[in-house]
Amino acid sequence: MTESTATAAPRAASAGAHPAITVAGVSKWFPTAEGQPLHVLENVSLEVPEHSILGILGASGCGKSTLLNIISGLVTPDRGRVCINGVPSGEFEDWRSVSYMFQEDRLLPWRTACRNVEFALEAGSMPKAERKRRAQAALELVDLSGFSDAFPYQLSGGMRSRVALARSLVLEPCILLMDEPFSRLDAQTRSLMHTELLRIHRLKKMTIVFVTHDVEEAVVLADSVVVMAPRPGRVREQVPIELGRPRDPTAPQVTQYIQRLRALI
Ligand SMILES: Nc1ncnc2c1ncn2[C@@H]1O[C@H](COP(=O)(O)OP(=O)(O)O)[C@@H](O)[C@H]1O
Ligand SMILES: [Mg+2]
Repeated sequence: MTESTATAAPRAASAGAHPAITVAGVSKWFPTAEGQPLHVLENVSLEVPEHSILGILGASGCGKSTLLNIISGLVTPDRGRVCINGVPSGEFEDWRSVSYMFQEDRLLPWRTACRNVEFALEAGSMPKAERKRRAQAALELVDLSGFSDAFPYQLSGGMRSRVALARSLVLEPCILLMDEPFSRLDAQTRSLMHTELLRIHRLKKMTIVFVTHDVEEAVVLADSVVVMAPRPGRVREQVPIELGRPRDPTAPQVTQYIQRLRALI
């Protein structure tokens, strides 16, 4: 898993025989201060086909981040299992091909945009000049090439979000996990980031799983949306979004999906 770790060779897309991600019967309990285990996820199953975009939608506290953490290998499920490209996650070795974009941008304030993106490459043995070249290419990909020497405090929220996205993309991940990545942005900037993400997805074709509580975001971005129910978190329904792109949030077909998903939450 790479937010901050890395070496780097360009990655070929993995073989298409398996879904990129399989979650099968996953349950999770967390210990609480009172000693009563908190049942956070119950029997969650889903599949994410390679190159597709899955949205996970649900109210706050219903276990979305926990599910993403389990997919990323950061948290171990108590029951069930996760496979990445058909390999059980405990045996999966190529975690560098899985990137995780957290809810907060986690930029280092003392580093420039370019040096923040380079950070994702520093765990490997890549020469400094090559790190810089790749970081600048990633910044170009997110349309931020003119700001590589800017510090985070000099950037707007949308620009910071682009830097975080560039850092997630610099290792050319096959799988990109995103936890409410645009939730702190204003509506207009968020909408711009949706367009950017879809443009990059068309180019790079990585598999994306993103978590959101924003129904419109789910419908605009996803090929399929898993709606979670709370306490314990479980899959209420999975809804394929059978619409072409781009999707105008005010178009009648889009608003129909939005209404349908709202009714499910
Ligand atoms: N490490 C942890 N230890 C104990 N409880 C946790 C931990 N992580 C999450 N929780 C609890 O699990 C529930 C689900 O949390 P989370 O997955 O963050 O939900 P969501 O992302 O949908 O808001 C919450 O009640 C939260 O307090
Ligand atoms: Mg969360």
